[in-house]
Amino acid sequence: MSTSPRTPHGSGLGALLGKKIFIAGGSSGMGAALAQMAAARGARVAIAGRSPSKLDVVAAKLGDSLLATYVLDLADAHAVLQALGEHGPYDHIVTTAAQLTFKSFPELSDADIQHMLASKFWGPVNLARAAVTQLKPEGALLFFSGAAAYKASVGTSIIGAVNRLLESLAQSLAIELKPRRVNVISPGLVDSPTWAGMSDGERTALFAAAAAALPVGRIGQVDDLAHAALAILENGFITGSVVHVDGGARVA
Ligand SMILES: NC(=O)c1ccc[n+]([C@@H]2O[C@H](COP(=O)([O-])OP(=O)(O)OC[C@H]3O[C@@H](n4cnc5c(N)ncnc54)[C@H](OP(=O)(O)O)[C@@H]3O)[C@@H](O)[C@H]2O)c1
Repeated sequence: MSTSPRTPHGSGLGALLGKKIFIAGGSSGMGAALAQMAAARGARVAIAGRSPSKLDVVAAKLGDSLLATYVLDLADAHAVLQALGEHGPYDHIVTTAAQLTFKSFPELSDADIQHMLASKFWGPVNLARAAVTQLKPEGALLFFSGAAAYKASVGTSIIGAVNRLLESLAQSLAIELKPRRVNVISPGLVDSPTWAGMSDGERTALFAAAAAALPVGRIGQVDDLAHAALAILENGFITGSVVHVDGGARVA
């Protein structure tokens, strides 16, 4: 019987030591939290997003664990492949990137929809295409969908649709890109910069109402989601899965 905390396939404690992880969306919220948690476990991390100043803030916290920062739009397939190629092949590729607009369906402009598709459809597609050459066979690709896929409400029509699409895509990719693992985390409501555009009063009311409706009695924190992402990256037996990290939102 092995006394090692790691299986031969790399699951478990220490599985991220020395690994290279590319995190699109790593300049904010859950992606930034994941970058820091992975670095604390000995991984080397590259982060990507469109805003250089947001990337700089997280890069400063990563210190020697930072591989690189990339200023890019995930809709740009060439930029994505070029970025991954610099330090690739990677052990893991993650995207938390999202630019969402919470308007009712008739109010959505073409630009609103295009931003949502750029970040949450073309981003994952371009990363998956790059993964063919820039993700190691024993590595994992991880997308982020969201609970809007399971609960219809005014303002989340396209968001919910794209989230569902990502979950279906990941299942197919788990077969087509095997033995690479492909999974999705579906977060519930999480206190992150996503909600920064709201007034303090609106945000407090939203968070309080959501917390009261959840079995766990609170909304999510970015570290809850980063921790779940690490568990998936560290576990070599999870693939083709959607992991719901939503405080029980689907059953409430
Ligand atoms: N927060 C929630 O309550 C919640 C709930 C359910 C699901 N989710 C999902 O969970 C994931 C993480 O959410 P979060 O709240 O941590 O997000 P966040 O704090 O808003 O961060 C989003 C990140 O994506 C980057 N980004 C956006 N569009 C991009 C593009 N086209 N190309 C490259 N980078 C882009 C942003 O940087 P730049 O703007 O500088 O590009 C930023 O780093 C998202 O997929 C979100 O839909 C969140």
